[in-house]
Amino acid sequence: MRVGVLTGGGDCPGLNAVIRAIVRKGVTEHGFDFIGYRDGWRGLLEGQSMTLGVEDCRGILPRGGTILGSSRTNPFAIEGGVEKIRENLAGDGVEALVAIGGEDTLGVATRLAELGVDVVGVPKTIDNDLSGTDFTFGFDTAVNIATEAIDRLHTTAESHHRVLVVEVMGRHAGWIALHAGIAGGASIVLIPEQPFHIEEVCRLVERRFESEYAPIIVVSEGATPATGDMTTQDRALDDFGHVRLGGIGDRLAHEIESRTGKEARSVVLGHVQRGGTPSAFDRWLATRLGLEAADAVASGDFGTMMALHGARIARIPLAEATGELKLVGPEEYAAAEVFFG
Ligand code: F6P
Repeated sequence: MRVGVLTGGGDCPGLNAVIRAIVRKGVTEHGFDFIGYRDGWRGLLEGQSMTLGVEDCRGILPRGGTILGSSRTNPFAIEGGVEKIRENLAGDGVEALVAIGGEDTLGVATRLAELGVDVVGVPKTIDNDLSGTDFTFGFDTAVNIATEAIDRLHTTAESHHRVLVVEVMGRHAGWIALHAGIAGGASIVLIPEQPFHIEEVCRLVERRFESEYAPIIVVSEGATPATGDMTTQDRALDDFGHVRLGGIGDRLAHEIESRTGKEARSVVLGHVQRGGTPSAFDRWLATRLGLEAADAVASGDFGTMMALHGARIARIPLAEATGELKLVGPEEYAAAEVFFG
């Protein structure tokens, strides 16, 4: 059987580990041959592909990014997109497709599965906001990077008696901010799920200074004040209708400095969180998900997504995973609040 593989959405540490596992198991145990589509759905729409054999996957396990390339192209936003996909799959002799991606890429896979395309999904996102799986690969690496940054910022914040605001990724979900904030001992964690009051933030900043320590505030890029709009860098939308975020850290630092008189600086970690080599946990998770995806194709279990349930890999319906985002609940947030101020 010929199987197509693609990676879509933002890149994420562990993508290459998944590709390697799918190909290794697919070739050696199931006798598949593979074709890699370049740059997510765009490659499949435009007929851009590459060979994907065991040899093409040598040495990629610890490498960040994706050897297949990625994009945020949405075939449902393009006239005739779905027909083009069917045509190109048939032309390449591809009988099954493995889509590795987040809510958008897997959302497309869900709709294609409903239209009869034989597809399985592998969840990927540093944001950890996909339902149906305990963790997505890439998240652990991002949290480790953010935690290391927070550790480093503590010492400079204390030496200079200044507030340091660390802006991390997280458009709708505050998982990275929450986990890195707890691991890094943040004085305040602000997430999209819990709109913040600037007066309260300033009160906590002042309380922290009373203890002779300097405050570190970890803020998700999608966090918003209780009143007012989301801060956006520009209004450009991608194919899935998302605005490009960024700027809340800077705005917060400015507001805190003018209200409290304490020097406040912001650091935006941005794409540093997504780049570079995956953590051991992410390599393990990505590999296990890839192995399961190869087995799902072999057993014709299409329309499913591979998921982590405890320490076990499970298959769940794609629709269940892409129906709604997994957000930080009040109880999870309360664990960080214990250490505020
Ligand atoms: O979905 C992963 C993610 O890293 C988000 O945390 C972030 O909002 C977005 O991608 C940024 O995307 P891009 O790199 O396309 O601007």
